[in-house]
Amino acid sequence: MKYKEYFSETTLNMGSSMIRELVASTKNIPDLISFAGGFPSPKTFPKQELSQIYAEVVAEEGTDVLQYGQSEGDSLLKKEFFRWEGYEDLNDDDALITVGATNGIYYFSRSLLNPGDAIFCEAPSFLGSIVAFEAVGADIRCVSLDDEGLKLDELKSGIEQLKKEGKQAKFIYTIPDFQNPAGTTMSLERRKALLQLCAAEGIVILEDNPYSKLRFSGEHLPSLYRLSKEAGLDIVMEIISFSKILGPGMRLAYAKGHKELIAKMVSWQQKVNVSPDCVTERVVTRYMQKGLLNPHIDNICEYYSPYLQSMLEALERYMPKSVTWTSPEGGIFIWLWLPEKINADEMFHKASQAKVSYIPGSKFYPKGQEKFNCLRLNFSFSSLEQIDRGIKSLAEIIRSYGV
Ligand SMILES: Cc1ncc(COP(=O)(O)O)c(C=O)c1O
Repeated sequence: MKYKEYFSETTLNMGSSMIRELVASTKNIPDLISFAGGFPSPKTFPKQELSQIYAEVVAEEGTDVLQYGQSEGDSLLKKEFFRWEGYEDLNDDDALITVGATNGIYYFSRSLLNPGDAIFCEAPSFLGSIVAFEAVGADIRCVSLDDEGLKLDELKSGIEQLKKEGKQAKFIYTIPDFQNPAGTTMSLERRKALLQLCAAEGIVILEDNPYSKLRFSGEHLPSLYRLSKEAGLDIVMEIISFSKILGPGMRLAYAKGHKELIAKMVSWQQKVNVSPDCVTERVVTRYMQKGLLNPHIDNICEYYSPYLQSMLEALERYMPKSVTWTSPEGGIFIWLWLPEKINADEMFHKASQAKVSYIPGSKFYPKGQEKFNCLRLNFSFSSLEQIDRGIKSLAEIIRSYGV
């Protein structure tokens, strides 16, 4: 059978995961120091508590949770989420539980976009979302970042440009806290100004929030969702993933937003997944009822903080002056800008030979809009000693370009 001739156009246009391929290409290099992945440290997984609760749930509630479940997600779990975030005024139909944030982002895009519809997206941004937007044929317009988050003047020019083309953006996708891949956090003033602008222009905001709880220092900032609710606006959908809190294998996230949009996303879930994993939902409900979640998050932050500090110190110690980087107060990523003449895609192979890897920054831009003199470093997976050694090697490779 010639399957190639049977594949849909969308499937044929879908690229393979470049990041997965890059990571795979270095898999067999012994003693490689990898700053490439976006994996949380397995040391942060609450294995003991979860294994006990999984056993309890199946034994005591198996009749219920091994059955088909609700497409909108378990009401008991949603109640716990609302309590956790201080949103006791929210009801069941204000939120949806999804199989990870990726799944929620897909339902959101599917619910809103026709092929060719314009959206705004931070650049760089999370590749998993960019490919979901590309898969539904979005016309992606980039907005670059500075230290305070996405640049509003660029967004305004983008909106004006679209008007000239007779178009209107449906939504803007943003990761305000410890952005993947840049590590930047949007300032409070920028958040408020973004909300006002989007409200005035009728643009929905998709707030992807997997990292805000992973803050090791500084002040927690209110989410766009919270600010929008306080301002009486209903333009934000926030998705919170538990991948970096409990473990990505659990595939759990939840989305809050306007009831009408939530209902459409539930319809997509009904068709695509039937429901989230009911056992996992009830396990997390019990985990939260036992008061384990917040102390666990405190432990993760305490665990990661020295890794971030070590990487920032090593960058300061070893990098040439012509290299700059972001200094996040949490999350799991740091972003580097290299001198213009260095192409981080090409440098990747040199770095692999020197047994250090990273993700070239170009992989975090939509097709055709890439920047090449940049890269992403992950600090949550290597040991402190590896961080020092790996950054030293990387700095030597960068210096070999005569910068
Ligand atoms: C910004 C961002 N959004 C979404 C995800 C994916 O989350 P999930 O594992 O819940 O699908 C990630 C994972 O790295 C991420 O960094």
